[in-house]
Amino acid sequence: MITKAERIKKDITTIAQFQSKKGRGCNRFSYTPAFRQAADYIAEEMKKAGLTVRENAVGAILGTLQGEQPELAPVVSGSHLDSVPEGGNFDGIAGICTALEAARAFHDVGIRPRRPFCCIAIPEEEGPQFGSGLFGSRAMCGQLYDDEIHRFRNAQGQSIAEVLTAYGKNPEKIASETIHTGDWAAFLELHIEQGPVLDREHLELGIVEAIVGLKYYFVTIKGISNHAGATPMTMRADTVLAMANAVSAGADTALTLGDGTVFTTGIIQTHPGAGNIIPDKTVFSIDCRSRNMNSIETVMKAVKASLETSKKQNPGLSYAIEERLHADPVEMDQSLQNLLETQTQMLHIPYKRMCSGAGHDTMVFNHLMPTAMIFVPSRDGRSHVPEEWTDYRYIQQGAEVLYQTLRQLTAQ
Ligand code: GLV
Ligand code: MN
Ligand code: MN
Ligand code: MN
Repeated sequence: MITKAERIKKDITTIAQFQSKKGRGCNRFSYTPAFRQAADYIAEEMKKAGLTVRENAVGAILGTLQGEQPELAPVVSGSHLDSVPEGGNFDGIAGICTALEAARAFHDVGIRPRRPFCCIAIPEEEGPQFGSGLFGSRAMCGQLYDDEIHRFRNAQGQSIAEVLTAYGKNPEKIASETIHTGDWAAFLELHIEQGPVLDREHLELGIVEAIVGLKYYFVTIKGISNHAGATPMTMRADTVLAMANAVSAGADTALTLGDGTVFTTGIIQTHPGAGNIIPDKTVFSIDCRSRNMNSIETVMKAVKASLETSKKQNPGLSYAIEERLHADPVEMDQSLQNLLETQTQMLHIPYKRMCSGAGHDTMVFNHLMPTAMIFVPSRDGRSHVPEEWTDYRYIQQGAEVLYQTLRQLTAQ
């Protein structure tokens, strides 16, 4: 094999040192000094691999290996450079480092492809900072929501536009740099599976067929604060109780649907947040995913019905639901899947075709070009946790499949 596990390991362990804050797991948030250090490291390594490097308006790093016919649309591969809070060191990074390793492989072999190959490190995929997700890729593809860069704010109250400006970017330039259909020939992303399927089935690689759809919401419930001891249960407008019922209704509906739909509330904020005060405001998140968007609608109907019931029973309550992210399910390109499969079989890697339950930048790029994804196994199926781990042997095998496929695609 041409790709090298030691180089990939060095990149992943080096990037793991760049942390936005000390503590458990990986905490590398977009546009922080640690993110800049990681981006600079990637840019340097891209240059060493013979790529021409630039940073775009949204802070993605793009390294291009010029083709014999530079006017042809490039084949692009990479992933995201940010992490969730207390996440792992492989989510996103494995895809950047394997694309970089593919570039090194081109360099080692001395191949100049017919069409350009571009390796990319994308910012702000995860979303917890600004309460959304897939921001970097959506910005690059012209899919930002109305006034999102001014409306969506981090915990310090700064808008995306303010944070980007402090990072040295001009948010005004985002629109003029968006990519369009035909600008890129294809996008390939290697990613850790983040679930248990490959690990349980002792398989070493997954070829993604489809990615589930997802919707993300913030729900705000307003009520009336009062004394926790002196207010009888029948005389309250308690926002936490309304939230608890709504969350149960959503989760129960997802379970009952039985079609793999999943429902998660990971954020709950109560106001004023004291144990002896009935909270007059509760804000909570809903992350709902399914292969079938109708199932997500069914779940959300149950959530709304529950909130309506709470409101009817208690006129002191009101609520608002804000949609923060919407991504439809997407199918990966059949001929790219077939190319990946042929390479995987030639390398005798045990594999399967499978669906992705996690969201990826690939779902955004998929609207503009053929896309494909390679999964590598997550030990014990753990991800978005400090314990996240993937054996370097599997990452390198995935890198080799990626490189061989990129060779074919850039020759076309
Ligand atoms: C991102 O990792 C997501 O799928 O939420
Ligand atoms: Mn993630
Ligand atoms: Mn990821
Ligand atoms: Mn993700």
